[in-house]
Amino acid sequence: MSGKKERFGSRTAVIMAMAGSAIGLGNIWRFPYMVGEHGGAAFIVMYLLATLLLSLPVFITEVTIGRRSRKGAFSAMSELHPGHRIWEFVGLLAVIVSLLINSYYCVIGGWSLDFLLRSCAASFVRMSPSEVTSVFSQMSSSRWEPVVMHLSFMGISTFIVAHGVKAGIEKFSKISIPALFFLIIVMIFYSVTLPGASEGLKYLVKPDFSQVNGETMAYALGQSFYSLSLGMGAIITYGSYVHKEEDIVVSGAGTAVFDLTFAILAGFAIMPAVFAAGIEPGAGPGLIFQSVPYIFSSMGEEVPVISAAVSFIFFLAIVVAAMTSCISLIEVGVTFLGEKFNLSRKKSCCLLFVLCGGLGIVCSLQPSVFDSLDWFCSNVMLLVLAFCFVVFAGFVMKKEDVREEITNAGAKPLNVRLFNVIYFQIKWIAPIAIAVILVTNFIL
Ligand code: TRP
Repeated sequence: MSGKKERFGSRTAVIMAMAGSAIGLGNIWRFPYMVGEHGGAAFIVMYLLATLLLSLPVFITEVTIGRRSRKGAFSAMSELHPGHRIWEFVGLLAVIVSLLINSYYCVIGGWSLDFLLRSCAASFVRMSPSEVTSVFSQMSSSRWEPVVMHLSFMGISTFIVAHGVKAGIEKFSKISIPALFFLIIVMIFYSVTLPGASEGLKYLVKPDFSQVNGETMAYALGQSFYSLSLGMGAIITYGSYVHKEEDIVVSGAGTAVFDLTFAILAGFAIMPAVFAAGIEPGAGPGLIFQSVPYIFSSMGEEVPVISAAVSFIFFLAIVVAAMTSCISLIEVGVTFLGEKFNLSRKKSCCLLFVLCGGLGIVCSLQPSVFDSLDWFCSNVMLLVLAFCFVVFAGFVMKKEDVREEITNAGAKPLNVRLFNVIYFQIKWIAPIAIAVILVTNFIL
C-alpha cells in the first residue's frame, strides 16, 4: 500500500461514509417534492426500479474506477487511460456539475437554516395550516432573508472546508443522522393520525401508471442518481479511498438500501401531512417547508415545548446533513483547483464561495433559474456523466481489470458468481437504458 493515501478502516466505515454523502437534502427535501410533482406511488415504483437496476451498477462502476485509479473525479479516468483528452474533459464536466449543484443546494440549506432559527423561537407552535404555508411563502419571496441565509449556510460550509475542520462536523453527523432517522419515524406516527392524512397514504401506495412517461422516468432516474451522489464523480473520489479487501458490491448495495429507506420514510412522514394541511402535492421545492411545520404545530397542541424541541432537533439535523453533503461538494472543487492550478485551499475556497454564492443568489431570487438549473443538472448532466462512466468501465477498461476490482481478484466467491450479470448490467443494460431515458426525456 502506498501509505500516503488514507483508507477507510472497515466495511461499516465505508458504508457510513458513503451513506453520509448520500443522505442529505436529496432524501428529505427533494424526494418528497419529486414524488408530489410526478405522480405519487407510480414515481416511487420507477425510483425503486431505477435504483436497483441502474444506480447500483453505476455505483459499482464509480467505486471500481476510483479504487483502480486511486484518483479523484477529475483525473481518475485519464489516469487509467492516459493520452485521451476526452476523459479529462468528462472529469472536468463532473467537477463543474458538482459546483452547479452546490450553488442551489446551499439555497435549500439556507431555507433549512432559516427554519432552524424559527424553531428556536418556537414559532410553529399552534399555527393553523394556512399560517404555516404563509411562513414559507413570505420567507422565500422576501428579498434579503433567503439570500442572507443562503450565504450564511454556504459561508459556514466553505469556512469548514477552508480550515480543514471537517472532522468535527462529520463526527456530529454520526449523531445527528441517526437522530433524524428516529425523528422521521416519530413524525410518521404523527403525520398519519392527522385528519385527512389517509388521502396522502393512498397517494403513496396506489400507483397510477398512466402518469408515467419518458419525462417521469428521467426524473426518477435523476432523483436516484442525485440521492446516491452518483454521476458527478463523488463516488469515484470515495472509491479511491476504499480498501483493496473491501467488497464493492456489498458496500454499494448497503448504501443504496440505506439511502432508499431514508427517502421512503421521509415520503411517509411528509405526504400525509401535505394532504392533511390541504397543500397541493405538486407545490414544488417548498413542499417540506410548508408541510413539516404543520406536523409540529399539531404536535404542540397539548405540550408546546415538545413540539418546539422536536422541530428544533429536526431542522438542526437537516442542516447538519445538508452541510456534510455541501462540504463534500465544495471539496470536489477544492481538490480540482489544487491539482490543476496549484491554488491553495483557502484561495480555492474564496473563489468557489464567490462563484457558487453568486449563482446561488440568482437561484434564490429567480425560481425559474433554480428550476432550470436543477433540471439541467439532475435530469440531463447526471445521466450523461453516468453514461460516460459505465461506457468507460464497459468499453475502455479491460474486462479483467473490472473483474479484479469487483471480485477482489477472486477472493469474493459470491461476486465471482455474480460477475457476469453485473458486468452485463454495466456494459449493456445501464448505458442503453440511460441513453434511452435521456432521449425520451426530450421527446415525450
Ligand atoms: N446525495 C446528496 C443528497 O441526497 C446530494 C449530493 C449530490 C452530494 N451529489 C453529491 C453530496 C456529491 C456529496 C457529494 O442530498
